[in-house]
Amino acid sequence: MFKRIGILTSGGDAPGMNAAIRAVVRTAIARGVECMGIYRGYRGLIEGDIRKLEMRSVSNIINHGGTILYSDRCPEFKTEEGMKEAVENCKRFGIDGIISIGGDGTFRGATDLTAHGVPCIGLPGTIDNDITSTDFSIGFDTAVNTTIEMVDRLRDTCESHARCNVVEVMGRDAGDIAVQTAIAVGASAVAVREILFNEAAVLESLRHSRESGKRNFIVIVSEGLPGYGEQLTKTIEEKTGIETRFARLAHVVRGGSPTLRDRILGSTVGAAAVECLLDGKSNIVICERVGKVTTMDIGEALILDRMYKDKLKPGDLEKFDAETVARMRAFCAAKFDAFKKLYDLAYEISK
Ligand code: ADP
Ligand code: F6P
Repeated sequence: MFKRIGILTSGGDAPGMNAAIRAVVRTAIARGVECMGIYRGYRGLIEGDIRKLEMRSVSNIINHGGTILYSDRCPEFKTEEGMKEAVENCKRFGIDGIISIGGDGTFRGATDLTAHGVPCIGLPGTIDNDITSTDFSIGFDTAVNTTIEMVDRLRDTCESHARCNVVEVMGRDAGDIAVQTAIAVGASAVAVREILFNEAAVLESLRHSRESGKRNFIVIVSEGLPGYGEQLTKTIEEKTGIETRFARLAHVVRGGSPTLRDRILGSTVGAAAVECLLDGKSNIVICERVGKVTTMDIGEALILDRMYKDKLKPGDLEKFDAETVARMRAFCAAKFDAFKKLYDLAYEISK
């Protein structure tokens, strides 16, 4: 029987986290359960930085980026000592279960905590959209829309000066922000870590387009290819004669007011997390797939993630039967196929 639950945000912040916090607090209170805000992620859990959140504590936050609970990276949480402190604080503050919003690191922490007797549920929150189990993570839509706005501005000045702009965008190892931005801004090319970049073909295409009268060029490079954006800027200028500038958008796209999609996603998965926890479910991640809110066991979600990213460790698949492994492989193949289709589309319509 749950009397009091906790909520925390961990890892990189993302617009829409506040919508999720608001939904968690209000759904819990509506079900007669108290909600404690755990500040600064797992660090706050270890240090006891925990305060009660009332109905009105979450007023006026749905429209703000960042996270009112703040975020931190806390390596101490991975140690036995850190975990002991965390579990003791759950007892001290009467916390019966926790909803953790973040990425795969945050989910690993949630799994460890569940194994130590504190049931946890994970909510996908990261601008990178690199959580394999969900189609969309909280913050991605806002980040990609902000990226589009920034690149549109660069295009204005490129057109005036007949220039090319190479733009490095965030996403860690994942090219989702890069590829979706490339389509939406009409970029001439996009380079991501997941797919081999044909530099010679791109240079040839830029040259050809310039000869046929094209004035402005946008080339998107994912930060998953560290340093490549600057290198490509020089190469384009040298090999095509097109004056080229480099821009790194960095953290500017991680802030700002969340879009409709991120407010809806944060609200729906936040409410669903409370319902699941109170129903006795734990160690699951709440996902959105094909427009529907659904769940996946965190253990499976983490292995699926490693499978998709080609980072499986020996023994990772041992606990799954052959049918489950086949289903996971098919899932990853379909996900990559969808990504590749968007990548190809970016080139097909960029001429
Ligand atoms: P994200 O959740 O966005 O992937 P991080 O990888 O920085 O971000 O993880 C956020 C926090 O989750 C870490 O600072 C740490 O407190 C916790 N964490 C990460 N990895 C583990 C792990 N293997 N075991 C337990 N806790 C972890
Ligand atoms: O995971 C979100 C993200 O913004 C990535 O896109 C980026 O690589 C990373 O975090 C930056 O981390 P930090 O905030 O520690 O600089």
